[in-house]
Amino acid sequence: MSDRPQTVAAILDVAGRYLKEREIEHPMLVTQLLLSHVLRCGRLELFLKHDCQLNDNQLQLMRNGTKRLSQGEPLQYITGQTQFMGHDFLVDKRVLIPRPETELLVEALLSHHELLAIDNPFIADVGTGSGCIVISLALAKPDAIYTAIDTSKDAVELARTNATNLGVAEKITFFPCKFTDAVDPGSLNCLVANLPYIPTAEHEELPVHIRNHEPRSALDGGPDGLDIIRQLLPDMAKALKPGGLIFLEIGHNQADRVVALLKSNGFVDIRITQDLGRKDRMVSALRAP
Ligand SMILES: C[S@@+](CC[C@H](N)C(=O)[O-])C[C@H]1O[C@@H](n2cnc3c(N)ncnc32)[C@H](O)[C@@H]1O
Repeated sequence: MSDRPQTVAAILDVAGRYLKEREIEHPMLVTQLLLSHVLRCGRLELFLKHDCQLNDNQLQLMRNGTKRLSQGEPLQYITGQTQFMGHDFLVDKRVLIPRPETELLVEALLSHHELLAIDNPFIADVGTGSGCIVISLALAKPDAIYTAIDTSKDAVELARTNATNLGVAEKITFFPCKFTDAVDPGSLNCLVANLPYIPTAEHEELPVHIRNHEPRSALDGGPDGLDIIRQLLPDMAKALKPGGLIFLEIGHNQADRVVALLKSNGFVDIRITQDLGRKDRMVSALRAP
C-alpha cells in the first residue's frame, strides 16, 4: 500500500485494489470492514466520512491489516472479534472462527420442548473452541448447568475470557481435558458438539484463509473426517442419562455414516437437519430411554 492516500475514500480505493490484485475474496467488502473496525464506526458510516483524514495510528493499523489480509489471514483474526447468535466473541488463532451454520445447533437446542421442560438440565458442549455455543446457550437459557470441554488449553482460556466478557462465567465450568475426565456417566441431559469433521485429504484443499490460519486440530477429523466423533460416541452415550439428547454438527455428506454410528451406540429417534444452504448439517438423537 502506498504511503500517500490518507482520506477514507483514498484508503478504501487503494487497499481494495491492492487486495483485488492479490485475489483476496470480496476485496472491497473486507477493506470496508477493516476500516470500519479501525475507525470504530459502522460500515455504512464510512460513506459519510469519505473526505475524513486518517491519523498516523489509523494509517498504520490499516497498513498492517491490509498486509495481513493480503497474506490470506481471516479478517476476524485481524480485528480479533466476530459475531455469533448476535453476541460479540473474541477470536484469535487459538480457536476456530464460529460459523453461521453452527447457530443451527444452538437454535435446535433452544427450541426443544422436552429439554426446556426439565428443571436445571445439565448440558455439555464438547469441543467448545471460542465457547460460542455454550455461552450463547447460557445467555438464552440461564437456568441450566453448563460444562464446556476442549482438549486445547489455549481454546479453553479464550472461551473463559469470552464467558467473562459476556457475563456468564459463573454459569459454565470449563475443562481443558478429555471428555471422559470431565463428565460422569449418566449425568447429562444434553450434549452438543461441533467436533472436527473435515477428512484429512480435504483439509489440504481448503481455502488458504482456513487451511493456513485456523487451527488444524479444530478441523481435521482423520481419514474420513469421523475419527473423533467415532472415538467419543461410546463415552458420550454413557455420559447421557437415558432419554438424554445429543446434537452433532456434521459435514454435508456424513449424515448416513453418523446415523449408523449413533444407532450402533444405542441412540434412537435420530433426525437430520439441513442448514440454510440445504446441506445436511446437524444430527440429533436420544439415548435410548
Ligand atoms: C470445529 S471446532 C468447534 C469450535 C466451536 N465449538 C465452534 O463451533 O465454533 C472443534 C473444537 O474441538 C476441539 N477438539 C478436538 N478434538 C477434541 C476432543 N477429542 N475432545 C474435545 N475437544 C476436541 C478442538 O480443539 C476445537 O476447539
